[in-house]
Amino acid sequence: MKFYILTLFPEMVEQGLTTSIIGRAVANGLLSVEAVNIRDYTTDRHKKVDDYPYGGGAGMVMQAQPIYDAWCAVKKKCNSPARTIYLTPQAPVFHQAMAKELAEEENLILLCGHYEGVDERVLEEIVTDYVSIGDYVLTGGELAAMVVCDAISRMVPGVLTNEESGTTESLEGGLLEYPQYSRPEEWNGKKVPEILLSGDHAKVDAWRRKQSILRTAERRPDLLDQAVLTEEERKEWA
Ligand code: ADE
Repeated sequence: MKFYILTLFPEMVEQGLTTSIIGRAVANGLLSVEAVNIRDYTTDRHKKVDDYPYGGGAGMVMQAQPIYDAWCAVKKKCNSPARTIYLTPQAPVFHQAMAKELAEEENLILLCGHYEGVDERVLEEIVTDYVSIGDYVLTGGELAAMVVCDAISRMVPGVLTNEESGTTESLEGGLLEYPQYSRPEEWNGKKVPEILLSGDHAKVDAWRRKQSILRTAERRPDLLDQAVLTEEERKEWA
């Protein structure tokens, strides 16, 4: 899978996506991340990429030309049709199912905005998907692009080792993950739940399932409607 990130701050995404698990996947050739500097494509003599908004108002708007030319250059390198994601708070909020779906793509182009926005005409021309990472405003799309790339990457087969890729993890089946414990058995006067030491796998699984449901009900009740629960589970814990 190949990510192309169109940005005015390529070093930011390069540093963020070349360490840890994503960095390992890049080194292994499972993924590639190419940060494309939009400024390299401006035809302006002074390397300008933004201008005042028509109609007035605060701030600057990123101009269409450099973005479009950067996008065309990237598009040429993709041998399959590539979706283009624009990171903006004015969009549906990213979630795990989107990450899974996007992980099936061969190429993805992500556009990071800055200043007060991007000329609408270029968005109309190139963007296939508008994605927000939450209801707050960041100074630019770079952190959002990194979040989205990270979540997609770990869904690409081979990126996580077997050990890293619990299928029973947060948000699988629409539930939050159960609490986890490691050694020692007692820490700060707190004991690990007895059942986890029992060696009875069926009992452990049942306990974890219940904890997942209780935790979801407590912390993210909004997820419960969509979660896959038996009638009994719903009656007792949800
Ligand atoms: N750019 C600025 N804020 C953002 C957000 N919340 N999500 C995605 N892109 C953004």
